[in-house]
Amino acid sequence: MRAAIASRAPAMRRTTSPARVRDAVARWRAGGKAVAFVPTMGAIHAGHLSLVVRARGTGRRVVASIFVNPLQFGPGEDFGRYPRPIARDRRLLAAAGVDLLWEPRAGDLYPDGHRTRVRVPGLDEVLEGASRPGHFEGVTTVVLKLLDVVTPDVLWLGQKDAQQAVVLERMVRDLLLPVAVKRAPTVREPDGLALSSRNAYLSPAERAQAVALCRGLEAARESLEAGERSAAGVKRRVRAVWRGFPLVREDYVAVVDARTLAPVRDTRGARRLLVAVAAAVGPARLIDNLEWSPR
Ligand code: PAJ
Repeated sequence: MRAAIASRAPAMRRTTSPARVRDAVARWRAGGKAVAFVPTMGAIHAGHLSLVVRARGTGRRVVASIFVNPLQFGPGEDFGRYPRPIARDRRLLAAAGVDLLWEPRAGDLYPDGHRTRVRVPGLDEVLEGASRPGHFEGVTTVVLKLLDVVTPDVLWLGQKDAQQAVVLERMVRDLLLPVAVKRAPTVREPDGLALSSRNAYLSPAERAQAVALCRGLEAARESLEAGERSAAGVKRRVRAVWRGFPLVREDYVAVVDARTLAPVRDTRGARRLLVAVAAAVGPARLIDNLEWSPR
């Protein structure tokens, strides 16, 4: 009986304080526990929870953070209306096995007069970075700060934001940060739509058409598997699918090297390809991607 009680996971703790996060992690580490970290902006869905479940592993302590990071939103973007269902988020993260939820306040991460920024040039101004100037500078800057406080052994990221993962993996490598970065596959709705906090912006009609992104990627995969060598041909296949979805307005359809994000012309020209798409569907800007290795 005692053993059963002792082995039951303790309730999730939460704090806004960086010092408390550092203390908790130091205590776990002193007790020989490895620490995994799942940073989020909240509006928690099954994609986020899949990261927590992977992060938990055996005997690991899991720290998650919720912070809607103003630095990664451009002027006119959705910072103000980004969903913030905090009570529900806490419940979901606790049930998935988070040990410590860090909810920093803006002032904890951005002291008055802060100026320091982190950039990964060459990776951060293409694709999403071209459409959202400054976005990745906001992401890398905040994630470096979060990592500096949490000092996890493992950082978990989602394949859904493939470019974000590429940029952060390169930052970790370039700055010699002692953390392993792991990626989890994209979690999807039954009809294939990638889960995203921004799906909440869609009306029923828009929601029905948002499947265009994954349908286009399925067509891209079919054409690659059928031996399509031309990246232009792959992109044409995606756009042909999208023509059947009038509420979907293309931002980009790109075929790039999955590691360098450099455009690829011949699909056999890279060891791993990333087909990345972005489109506006009503008020929501949605992204999705497909990784593919030529055999
Ligand atoms: P957010 O959009 O909340 O996503 C947090 C993490 O969940 C990211 O690693 C993202 O790739 C992953 N994720 C989102 N949707 C997913 C899905 N459908 N399947 C699997 N994983 C998914 O990404 C951010 O927040 C921020 O930029 C952040 C890294 C927290 C920095 O502010």
